[in-house]
Order: sequence, then C-alpha cells, then structure tokens
Amino acid sequence: MKELKIIPVHIGIIMDGNGRWAEKRNLPRIAGHQEGIEAVRRTVQSAVKYNIKYLTLYSFSTENWKRPKEEIEFLFSLMEKNLIKEGENLHKNNIRVRFSGRRWELPSKLIEAMEYVENLTKNNTGLNLIFAINYGGRAEIIDGIKEIIKSGYRSEEINEELMSKFLYLPDVPEPDLIIRTSGEKRISNFLLWQSAYSEFYFTPVLWPDFDEKEFLKALFDYQKRKRKFGGVIYKK
Ligand code: IPE
Ligand code: IPE
Ligand code: MG
Repeated sequence: MKELKIIPVHIGIIMDGNGRWAEKRNLPRIAGHQEGIEAVRRTVQSAVKYNIKYLTLYSFSTENWKRPKEEIEFLFSLMEKNLIKEGENLHKNNIRVRFSGRRWELPSKLIEAMEYVENLTKNNTGLNLIFAINYGGRAEIIDGIKEIIKSGYRSEEINEELMSKFLYLPDVPEPDLIIRTSGEKRISNFLLWQSAYSEFYFTPVLWPDFDEKEFLKALFDYQKRKRKFGGVIYKK
C-alpha cells in the first residue's frame, strides 16, 4: 500500500491548458478559463485535505498582457467575481488568501476584491493560498533590487539572505514542489528565485481537468524524490 510520508510544505502550480481544453470542445478560450475555476476550487480543497501549508497558484503572468484585450478583461473579471463570491467560504475554512505580483498595474475593481479577501482572511491560520497575479519572477527580482537600493544598502551587504527578504512575500518558504499541467515543460517566469531547489512534476492533464486524483499523483511522485540541495545523502 502506497503511503504519503513526506508532505510538501509549499506547492506551486502553473495552471496551464485552459485554452486547449476549450479548443478541444470547439468553445472560445474563455470557456476554458471559466472551467479552470472549478479546478482551482478542487485543488484548494485537496490542499486543505492533505495538510499543505502554502499553495501558490500562477494565475496571470507579466507576459500574459500580450494576449487579446478581451481575454485579459475576462480573466480579471473572473478573478474579481470569484474572490468576492468565495471570500466568506475561504474565511470559514480558516484559509488565508494572499497575492503576489505587480498589483498596482491591475484594474482598480480587481485590486478592491483582492484587498477585501486579504483583509477578511488575514488572521486565519490554515492554508496560505497565494494567487500570483501579474506576477513575473524577473519582475519580482527587479522590484526587490529597487527596494534594496532605496533602503540604502551597500554592495558588501548584499547577499542571498538579504535578496530573499526583499521578495514580494518574504515569509513564505520556497516551494518544495512545482506542478505544471498541460504537458509543457517550462517555468514561464514562475518563482525563479524561489525554485532554485524545487522538485518539478509535469502532467499532460489540462488545467480544467485537474482533480484530487491528479493532485495525489503529484504527491506520490514527490515521495520518491531525493532532495540533496547540492549536498550528499549518506547511507546509514
Ligand atoms: C492557462 O491556460 C491560464 C492562463 C495563462 C491565464 P492558457 O490560457 O495558457 O491555456 P493554453 O496554454 O492556451 O492551452
Ligand atoms: C504560464 O502559462 C502562466 C500562467 C499559468 C498564469 P502560459 O500559457 O502563459 O505560458 P507559456 O506562454 O506557454 O510559456
Ligand atoms: Mg498556456
């Protein structure tokens, strides 16, 4: 019987394949995004069930601005509506909702919805659910460097520990496991700094089809990983 012995503290997910899910059904791409919300709901439930402490969902990248205006607007309004709709429910489940990314470039109505859920859930102690919206790993590093310079640090004082403190969510541990759906095997600017020693799990399943069974497959695969962080594992 398979057993889950090692539970990752932080899981990051690159939720990819909404467009292809819709195309396969001759539906507009936005139908895939709509259906993707259900997968988000299922995944949050799974994360709670399997005691994951941090779950980061890559929701909109700094490169996704290249998409058609209508698709971008649909995505933002979908996020806004669902944050408002699910706020109370997330709160009841003791989930703390947070956001990562260049928030100030987003539409004001979406920012308001983000702030509403963030404030409502800020004292919760269960799952930390992080939505990476208008997030880019390079942008995060650049924004951190700007803050370091503004704070007046000298070059001798700059090291990895300091840089880590100037990322968007410095208290969040680095992801142990990064899952990407839809069969693509790339990082697409997700958590570049934090993923230096993350384990990766790729699945061909399209994001709207992702469910607890798929989540568990990733968790079981993670059991087999031997994390070394550049060191050596000594046999006893
Ligand atoms: C992921 O699905 C959702 C976002 C990037 C917002 P895609 O929209 O990238 O779906 P594909 O890759 O076109 O299938
Ligand atoms: C990554 O997916 C971004 C999100 C999941 C939000 P993309 O679909 O934008 O990535 P590429 O363009 O295939 O690399
Ligand atoms: Mg994609």
